[in-house]
Amino acid sequence: MLKILILGGTGFIGPHMVHEALRRGHEVSLFNRGRTDDGLFPDLQTFIGDRNNQLDALKGHKWDAVIDNSGYVPRHVADSARLLSDAASHYVFVSSISAYASFRIANNEDSPLATMPDETVEEVTGETYGPMKALCEKMAAREFGEDRLTILRPTYICGPGDRTDRYTYWPVRTMQGGRMLWPGSPSDPIQIIDVRDLANFSIDCVDQRITGTFNTVTPPGEFTMGDLVEDSIAVTAAGMTPVWVSASFLSEHDALQHIPIWSSPEGEESRAALVGGERAFAKGLNNRPTRETARDTVAWWKTLPEDRTATPRAGLSPEKEAELLALA
Ligand SMILES: NC(=O)c1ccc[n+]([C@@H]2O[C@H](COP(=O)([O-])OP(=O)(O)OC[C@H]3O[C@@H](n4cnc5c(N)ncnc54)[C@H](OP(=O)(O)O)[C@@H]3O)[C@@H](O)[C@H]2O)c1
Repeated sequence: MLKILILGGTGFIGPHMVHEALRRGHEVSLFNRGRTDDGLFPDLQTFIGDRNNQLDALKGHKWDAVIDNSGYVPRHVADSARLLSDAASHYVFVSSISAYASFRIANNEDSPLATMPDETVEEVTGETYGPMKALCEKMAAREFGEDRLTILRPTYICGPGDRTDRYTYWPVRTMQGGRMLWPGSPSDPIQIIDVRDLANFSIDCVDQRITGTFNTVTPPGEFTMGDLVEDSIAVTAAGMTPVWVSASFLSEHDALQHIPIWSSPEGEESRAALVGGERAFAKGLNNRPTRETARDTVAWWKTLPEDRTATPRAGLSPEKEAELLALA
């Protein structure tokens, strides 16, 4: 049994990690502000504080490992890693593939990382998120050193509990049937990581003390938009007819930004879905069949209240899709 501290632990990926760690017999404690899903884990020790200058609750305790899944601001990661450096022997930092400098190349873990001109910026935006994650990694490494640190770089995390609806949009929209707009072509690659596979691998890293940096993705080139269409139809049994449109059509009609998960195989993000995962696969990252992810995501979606499902947080609105379908 190991003592594990999760920084976060309520959000999206946290609960999956908690459940997996408890299933394996570990003792888990959490650190958060008590705002998100307060009361989700009444039986776990929860330290209340804030990554922003309020870490006192963590002082005077010891853990075998810390999993940091709420680190976005380099200063916050520097502060927690410094404080916990003597209190825990292993730090697992959940970063992102957004830490890479460019998606014109198929990145592996040694590819150049994103940078930003002013490293003191603390506002998380679409532009700063990636470079800030890269800096967070650096801060964790500064305190824990390479031999006590694991960095996980997930691509789009999806599955039950996803608050972004980016992957969820596709099977959920498919449920309604009819003509449905799809971007690019069926052979375009996409990558995801099922939240449960990420949780399993993160607890494997703790259990087996696997250190180093790992992209956590489905194998590059293996999962395509065509597969996502097939998964979506299979798990919803819906009579949906895909209508494929090009990136230029989407761009001309101001819709590209509403298309989640997929990126055009031409242009700035042409290799975004070809991130190498061999290092993690060699250490045991196991991706479940994508159809299982689709099935469980739809089943989870059906349990949500109507005010949550009425307007998905990603994807084309019904009006915009109808407008585009009329022109396609
Ligand atoms: N979603 C994706 O597709 C994706 C892809 C790649 C990487 N990632 C990474 O995966 C992680 C996301 O995990 P998530 O979505 O489950 O978590 P999240 O929503 O970012 O974090 C939620 C957890 O952190 C706690 N928290 C937030 N701000 C805090 C603060 N200032 N001080 C203390 N605790 C705080 C929350 O509890 P309280 O609100 O109660 O404090 C909650 O437990 C992030 O590191 C993200 O960068 C996500």
